Amino acid sequence: MEGTAEVKASTQQAKLAMEKGGVVVLDFGGQYTQLIARRVREQQVFSVILPCTTSLEDIHKLEPAGIILSGGPSSVYDKDAPKCDPAVLTMGIPVLGICYGMQWVAKNLGGKVEPAERREYGPAQLNVHKVDSHLFKNFPDKMKIWNSHGDNVHELPPGFHATGRTSNAIAAAEDPKRKIYTVQFHPEVNHTDRGAEILRNFLFTVCNAEPKWSGAAFIQETVEAIRTKVGTHHAICGLSGGVDSTVAAVLVHRAMSDRLTNIFVNTGMLRKNEFELTLEMYRDRLGLRVVGVDASEHFLNKLKGVSDPEKKRKIIGGEFIAVFAAEAQKLQKNEAHGDIKFLVQGTLYPDVIESVSVKGPSATIKTHHNVGGLPSDMPFGLIEPLRDLFKDEVRRIGKELGLPQEILLKHPFPGPGLAVRLLGEITSKDLITLREADAIVLEEIRRAGLYEKVWQAFAVLLPVRSVGVMGDGRTYGLTVAIRVVQSDDAMTADWVRLPGEVLERISTRIVNEVPGVTRVVYDVSSKPPSTIEWE
Ligand code: XMP
Repeated sequence: MEGTAEVKASTQQAKLAMEKGGVVVLDFGGQYTQLIARRVREQQVFSVILPCTTSLEDIHKLEPAGIILSGGPSSVYDKDAPKCDPAVLTMGIPVLGICYGMQWVAKNLGGKVEPAERREYGPAQLNVHKVDSHLFKNFPDKMKIWNSHGDNVHELPPGFHATGRTSNAIAAAEDPKRKIYTVQFHPEVNHTDRGAEILRNFLFTVCNAEPKWSGAAFIQETVEAIRTKVGTHHAICGLSGGVDSTVAAVLVHRAMSDRLTNIFVNTGMLRKNEFELTLEMYRDRLGLRVVGVDASEHFLNKLKGVSDPEKKRKIIGGEFIAVFAAEAQKLQKNEAHGDIKFLVQGTLYPDVIESVSVKGPSATIKTHHNVGGLPSDMPFGLIEPLRDLFKDEVRRIGKELGLPQEILLKHPFPGPGLAVRLLGEITSKDLITLREADAIVLEEIRRAGLYEKVWQAFAVLLPVRSVGVMGDGRTYGLTVAIRVVQSDDAMTADWVRLPGEVLERISTRIVNEVPGVTRVVYDVSSKPPSTIEWE
């Protein structure tokens, strides 16, 4: 039992991307559910996560080769314990129950689950029973596993036999006749030895799934599904310049060609030349139909006198929606685009996780932060072709779609952009200063061959003046901080030990080339306790 009870994706969206013959992961709210789905895809079998409450009819429609029941934080005896329709166990589709999934299976089929005398969290040793289990075929007698549960299956349901035990509990059991397999531990985490092999055995020996899922297959399936969904209607997409929205747009463009119109808004908070260069890339290299909206003056006006970072974020978010909605309405009025019925978003799986409760079968769809909270009088259907994928999977799809490296490997950039890197009130003069300094940081990081090795690299303009000396005169100039961090997921980050020569070149160039800056400092703080951005 583990983790949070927040989760998942809608069946309608799943159908958009699901290959027939994949695996449905029914989610009980476990913290590793996403990992399960990913591990299945790593075996080239498509997988999709659905709330445990998904109807049998919806599961049937996907024609899955197998069903995996995830872990979850509850006890099966809790009043609100999440449940599947028990008929998933009699559909004739092989089932693998993991952790809470095992306990739910045991309770439903007449076994007994009880609170463990000794809870098992972390590593344990599995004693594999030398029976002819498909899951553990040719396994050693003992292996290391990873546990996270407080309840145990004390008594197996009729027809089941144990295939593995720890010193405390039944750790694996199955009824091969009914093709129901259960494990109390987590084969999806790296700490379990041969976990991938257990999943492979389930997929290929028990389910006879075909390893046919790949980037190319995903693209083909998704394009076809989008075509069916949109018919002859039109769609719009908000581009941010980042990899997610670009991959989503290119994918949908494959399906609908120029019936997809993209909107790229210049908030005035973008990096040097970013608006022009990105627009050019979208149009000339990717062949997308894009409306570029330069609203930088508008944003700057709205931000006048504002120095609180949260206020800046709110203003930029709100204005972004207003500008996007106004453009969409203009397009809607234009005869050529009068039939816009869909909105494309580059939502990824991690964006979905927080938004949907495991208990609710009707998954509410989170609006993406880039175009979040669109007015309700813009009744668009959503197309979110990436909502089952993780960032690195999206990069792979992007590569398969032929996107240039520069977009695939682009550093993350915050929605409010330079507004949270220019501390205090924003003026156009300071924005120019920050843009120039930031461009030098990126140029030198690239020149040193470090761009692709670091997570983010940027300049911050501080509202701090300090005394300097230039030529024969004293100056009283601005301070630029350089931030270069390494990270896997932005949850934690470490400052990068840049070579002295690189720091020296950055610093010398900034004070020489950027008017008004007389001091450069390097940020040597990690996250936590600091954050990546300064605001
Ligand atoms: P922090 O500063 O919280 O940043 O360590 C973590 C990651 O999130 C990005 N970031 C943002 N992205 N809107 C965004 O879209 C924001 O308001 C925002 N603030 C921070 C940041 O660049 C880093 O990658």
